Amino acid sequence: MSARDAATPVMQAGQPSLISAKNITKTYTMGDQIVRALDGVSLDISQGDFVAIMGASGSGKSTMMNLIGALDTPTSGSMRLDGRDIAAMATDELAAMRNQTIGFVFQQFNLLARTPALRQVMLPLTYATPRPDDPEQQARRRLEQVGLGDRLDHHPRQLSGGQQQRVAIARALVNNPKILLADEPTGALDTKTSDDIMCLFTELNRQGITVVVVTHEADIAAYARRRIVFRDGKVIEDTLTPAKAVSAGAPRLQSTETRDDAA
Ligand SMILES: Nc1ncnc2c1ncn2[C@@H]1O[C@H](COP(=O)(O)OP(=O)(O)O)[C@@H](O)[C@H]1O
Ligand SMILES: [Mg+2]
Repeated sequence: MSARDAATPVMQAGQPSLISAKNITKTYTMGDQIVRALDGVSLDISQGDFVAIMGASGSGKSTMMNLIGALDTPTSGSMRLDGRDIAAMATDELAAMRNQTIGFVFQQFNLLARTPALRQVMLPLTYATPRPDDPEQQARRRLEQVGLGDRLDHHPRQLSGGQQQRVAIARALVNNPKILLADEPTGALDTKTSDDIMCLFTELNRQGITVVVVTHEADIAAYARRRIVFRDGKVIEDTLTPAKAVSAGAPRLQSTETRDDAA
């Protein structure tokens, strides 16, 4: 990746801002109607933060995540990611930014049905520049990290829901992203498995990765250290919260759910 824009360093209390939104709007035109999905949003997220984004359906959470993930650009306002203004970036630059900086995790896992876990996790490395020397070893290491070292050849239908989400998390991590973006990552999982996945995010955050999780469940948001609430495209609350205690050796990086029903 090219160097940070040195002329305008983004700093917040001495910490570099990884994500910096200033007075962002995002509007969609539907026929003669204008939908204001985001309406003057400003927020800064620092390296190492663990943030929960909350709010009712339609409040603008996914739109915000798309901007943070460089999947989209704002209608107005400034959106900086890792020090660079995404509004000023060409499509291929945005793609490179996504590949190098962001790992995405989705509610429905978004795995390929007929592909074993190891190959799913190797896939993003196909597009990485420079191409790593040993993509298979990197993918294996990430699967071990999420507790699936013994499931390398399993296809999604041979894995529980929680295990499928772990494969998706390993895939999100394989390019060493700075930010893990998860939109309702536990929305398709039962409570116990959801807690295991949040413990895994907690552990990854402890290892230094910035985590941003969209959820509408307070129990899930409780794992984060900061809660940002959206309503009608605006931030109505942005508070630091004590993160839910997760013991260091806890369920996290083990394959704890082999007994779960397959999703
Ligand atoms: N591609 C789109 N085209 C038109 N309207 C959209 C589009 N994406 C989102 N919206 C509208 O923007 C608002 C915010 O949507 P969204 O960010 O998906 O909310 P949330 O994720 O909080 O449920 C909603 O009113 C939604 O209908
Ligand atoms: Mg959404």
